[in-house]
Amino acid sequence: MGRLKKILIPSLGLVLAFWFYSARDTFKPEMLRGKRVIVTGASTGIGEQMAYHLARMGSHVLLTARTEARLQNVVERCLELGAASARYISGSMASPSLPEEVLREAENTWGGLDMLILNHIGQSSFTFFSGDVGHVRTLMETNFVSYVALATAALPLLKESEGSIVVVSSIAGKIAGPFTAPYSATKFALDGFFSSLRQELIIDKVNVSITLCILGYINTESAVRAVSHVIPQTPAPKEECALEIIRAGALRRRELHYPSPAVGSMLLLRSLAPELLDSLLLSSYRLENVRRT
Ligand SMILES: NC(=O)c1ccc[n+]([C@@H]2O[C@H](COP(=O)([O-])OP(=O)(O)OC[C@H]3O[C@@H](n4cnc5c(N)ncnc54)[C@H](OP(=O)(O)O)[C@@H]3O)[C@@H](O)[C@H]2O)c1
Ligand SMILES: *[C@@H]1O[C@H](CO)[C@@H](O)[C@H](O)[C@H]1NC(C)=O
Repeated sequence: MGRLKKILIPSLGLVLAFWFYSARDTFKPEMLRGKRVIVTGASTGIGEQMAYHLARMGSHVLLTARTEARLQNVVERCLELGAASARYISGSMASPSLPEEVLREAENTWGGLDMLILNHIGQSSFTFFSGDVGHVRTLMETNFVSYVALATAALPLLKESEGSIVVVSSIAGKIAGPFTAPYSATKFALDGFFSSLRQELIIDKVNVSITLCILGYINTESAVRAVSHVIPQTPAPKEECALEIIRAGALRRRELHYPSPAVGSMLLLRSLAPELLDSLLLSSYRLENVRRT
C-alpha cells in the first residue's frame, strides 16, 4: 500500500500537470493571421473548406489542384472571406515538376512559408483490388511521392519560419480494411515517411512540426459517392474536419484523430483485439453492394 501510494500520487500529479498544460495550450484563430499557407487539393472537399477557414483567419493562401475553373472560384471566395491574399497553381501532382513549381511560387511571392498542408489524393475506387499495378504506381506518385517532394522543397523555408507540415491521412493509413488496397498503401507510406522524418527533425533540433491527420468518414462529395452504398454510417462534417486539421497544425500536434471518439476507439481496438475489429468492420459493411470492376 505504501509503495502503491508512492507511485500513484506522483503519477496522478504528472497526469494532472500534463492535463493542465495541454488545456492551456489553446487555439486562437489569430494564430493564423498573416501566415503564409499552401493547401493542396483545395478545389473541393476538405481542402476547399480549409482554404475558407484560413481566409476567415486572415492567412495568405496558395491553393493547388488540377481543375483551374474551380480553383478560380475558391480563390475568389477566399478573397471575399478576408484572406490576406489568395492565388492558385493548377496541375497534376502525378507530374514530378509540380511540387517544386508550387514552392518556387511561394518563395517568389511571399519570400517564405509558414504552413504546408498536404491534402490532395488521386482518384481510386472502393472495390476489390482489380490487379491494376499501373494504377498503384500512379496513385503512389500522386498520394505519396508528391507529398515527399513538396515537403522536401518546403523544408528550407519552414526551417526559417519554424513552420509546420500537415499531412492529411486516413484511418485506412493505420488500419487496412477491404476495398482500399492501393489507397491504404499510399496512406501507410505517409505514416512511415513522415513519422520517421519527425524524429530526425527532433534529433537535429529543427523546429518544424509534422502533424499526421487520421480521418474517419467525412461527408465530402467524392467520399460519399465512393462509399455510401457500402458504408451505412453517417459521415462527419467536412467544415468541422477542416477546422480541426488547421487547429492541430497550429498547435503543432503530432497526430489528429477526427472524428475523435470513433477513430480513437478503432485504433485502441486494433491494438487490443485486431480480429474483433476486422469482423466488426466487415459486419457493418453492405458487402452485397460492393461493385466488382
Ligand atoms: N472524405 C473522407 O471520407 C476522407 C476520409 C479519410 C481521409 N480523407 C483524406 O482527406 C483528404 C481530402 O479528401 P476529400 O474527401 O476532401 O477529397 P476530394 O474532395 O476528392 O478532393 C481531392 C482534391 O485533390 C485534387 N486532386 C485530385 N487528383 C489530383 C491530382 N492528380 N493532382 C493534384 N490534385 C488532385 C482534387 O481536385 P482536382 O480534381 O481539381 O485535381 C481535389 O481538390 C485526402 O487526403 C483524403 O485521403 C478523406
Ligand atoms: C518552435 O517554434 C514555435 C513556433 O515558432 C515556437 O512557439 C516554439 O517555442 C519553438 N520551440 C523551440 C524549442 O524553439
